[in-house]
Amino acid sequence: MTLRVGMIGARGYVGGELVRLLAGHPEAEIVWIGSTSRGGHPVELEGAKADLVYSEADPDSLLRREVDVVFLGVPNGEAKGWASSIDARAKDTCIIDLSTDHRLDEQWVYGNPEHNRTRVAGARRIANPGCYATAALLAIAPVAECLRSPATVFGVSGYSGAGAKPSPRNDPDMLRDNVVPYTLTDHSHERELERVLRQPVRLLPHVSSFFRGMMCTVALSLRAPVTRELLFERYRSVYSNEHFVRFIEGVPLLRDACLTHHVTVGGVSVASDGFSASVVSVLDNLLAGAASQAIRNMNLAFGLNEELGLA
Ligand SMILES: NC(=O)c1ccc[n+]([C@@H]2O[C@H](COP(=O)([O-])OP(=O)(O)OC[C@H]3O[C@@H](n4cnc5c(N)ncnc54)[C@H](OP(=O)(O)O)[C@@H]3O)[C@@H](O)[C@H]2O)c1
Repeated sequence: MTLRVGMIGARGYVGGELVRLLAGHPEAEIVWIGSTSRGGHPVELEGAKADLVYSEADPDSLLRREVDVVFLGVPNGEAKGWASSIDARAKDTCIIDLSTDHRLDEQWVYGNPEHNRTRVAGARRIANPGCYATAALLAIAPVAECLRSPATVFGVSGYSGAGAKPSPRNDPDMLRDNVVPYTLTDHSHERELERVLRQPVRLLPHVSSFFRGMMCTVALSLRAPVTRELLFERYRSVYSNEHFVRFIEGVPLLRDACLTHHVTVGGVSVASDGFSASVVSVLDNLLAGAASQAIRNMNLAFGLNEELGLA
């Protein structure tokens, strides 16, 4: 089986990673790339086939290519329209939406394989999780049922998290020698986390001057006292069979997660009273927090090995 893949938003940071990964995927081939600005021009992206030309960003043009799967790497708010055009005419086409548009929609499967692997298998409407949500979820989930108050997540991300379109969050002058807090209340990833964990989470995101990578340092307040050994063992057992999660003893470093497909969780520590604990997670926001997770979702949706194309 070779999956016929369509992509919109391929010229973005996440889309570029997807094109590169799909080029090395043994069971997938990109047959259509739509662009709002480059229709008719040759596709110049790393990994794309030499004869591929950008199509106009038009659902009719996409559907004519009879694709098996479409990746929507478009800005938040733009994916809904694409999804409804595809819904109307190609219900069996698998849509993997990398934007926020369907992450709270119960008709769509929330595509975090560690939590929803069985539901992603065979799914045709998959909302790929946000990068902060992925990092925070994997840090909090093993102890979610033991918390007495919402986990608080201090997050810091490279500026690629803000996309390529110029904004204060990717402005080199603003970011130089700086760490900038933003959206300190009501961040959409808080709602996403609440959907999966069934409890509130506080997220305090920041952006800094490095390009890629993300760290979540999580403060946990526990209902009953624990020892560090107990907590450590809990994380270790939850993640021992997860190929894309590494649980380590020391504090994970953001730079070690960059250009990898996995999330590293570690640095578990417990206060002397046993009620307060901390844990740290790191990932590459463009890969484990977006493109590689999307490839895993495609693999699961089509019954392929989850690791295919992500060596
Ligand atoms: N950056 C991250 O770390 C990250 C992580 C997880 C999820 N996401 C999500 O992934 C999506 C893409 O993010 P990104 O950072 O790659 O964004 P980006 O770098 O800003 O790129 C988005 C691409 O979408 C296309 N586009 C722009 N306006 C469009 C429209 N109105 N309709 C259709 N396509 C349009 C553009 O390509 P053309 O000019 O060729 O049309 C553009 O290159 C977003 O929804 C974002 O929330 C991003």
